[in-house]
Amino acid sequence: MIEKPSLPDFDADDVVESAVVSRLAGNWNKRATVKKSEPDLDDLFDTSKHDYPEALIPFADHDVYRTLSDTTRAKLRAWGWIAFNKNVMDVEQHVVHPGFALLAQDAFDIGMGDVLAVAVTQAMVDEQYHTLMHLNASALTRRKRGWALSERCLPLSGTVRRRHATQASAVDSNDAALNSLAFMTVAEISITSYLNLIEDNELIQPVNRATVALHNRDEYCHASIADEMAAIVFESLNSGDRRVFLDGLADGMDAFSSTDFSTWSAILQQEGVVGGDCMLQEVETDGSRKQLVQDYGGIRSLCRKLDVEDEIGIDWS
Ligand SMILES: [Fe+2]
Ligand SMILES: [Fe+2]
Repeated sequence: MIEKPSLPDFDADDVVESAVVSRLAGNWNKRATVKKSEPDLDDLFDTSKHDYPEALIPFADHDVYRTLSDTTRAKLRAWGWIAFNKNVMDVEQHVVHPGFALLAQDAFDIGMGDVLAVAVTQAMVDEQYHTLMHLNASALTRRKRGWALSERCLPLSGTVRRRHATQASAVDSNDAALNSLAFMTVAEISITSYLNLIEDNELIQPVNRATVALHNRDEYCHASIADEMAAIVFESLNSGDRRVFLDGLADGMDAFSSTDFSTWSAILQQEGVVGGDCMLQEVETDGSRKQLVQDYGGIRSLCRKLDVEDEIGIDWS
């Protein structure tokens, strides 16, 4: 009788864990927004406040915008908030969730222990809840303002389109997975600066600020988890795979900080703003305009920790 080769015994002491992630996984029940009771958003809504900061509307200083009626400008600000929520939801569903899902399946074969698996799965639950929070916030804006403002008229987030393009051009599933992890890492470590754009502004609708503040609280923890997970995976990669991951980080940073006017173009068309396309073209070619704030300090720290700060081909200044 032929003896079957025996499999190596599972060694419970030889699994990858992390003290930081372990602490965060342990206090999830107390800290996660999904575990808390929902604030009464209807009560918080203040019709006198702006739905979105004019400072974030790329054409706010342009004459075409300035000469619109007060109602149309208010409607465009409400659209800005709807588009902000759609961007967050698109990134949650198409960038963050797939990246965490790969980690949860231990797709990079790091020998993940239970605590890491639990932390990553908790983060995936958080992200689904964030999508619901932003959907509720858009629904409330539509209901309170009495405007249709359907996000179905808007294109998929520019960052997500970039990720889809990189996934489609990846040479194999291994490279695609590394690229997916890199985009998720950039999203998770830099999203707080994007959310701060709304949270820190007193002129803005309290509901919108509360939504973003609650989301942001979870994201500070996710940034630590993503940072730890990226470092653990990176240490386990060969030099070719490390290069693919670093190129993905650079590509992700570029994607997240690129200005995408296709959403505003769709909004202006929807509202029938005369001269809207010319205004967008002028703003797009105006080199003096500031780029949307995107803080890559966290990614830089990660790269420093991995000792690749100068290898990634990014001008950090
Ligand atoms: Fe999130
Ligand atoms: Fe997150």
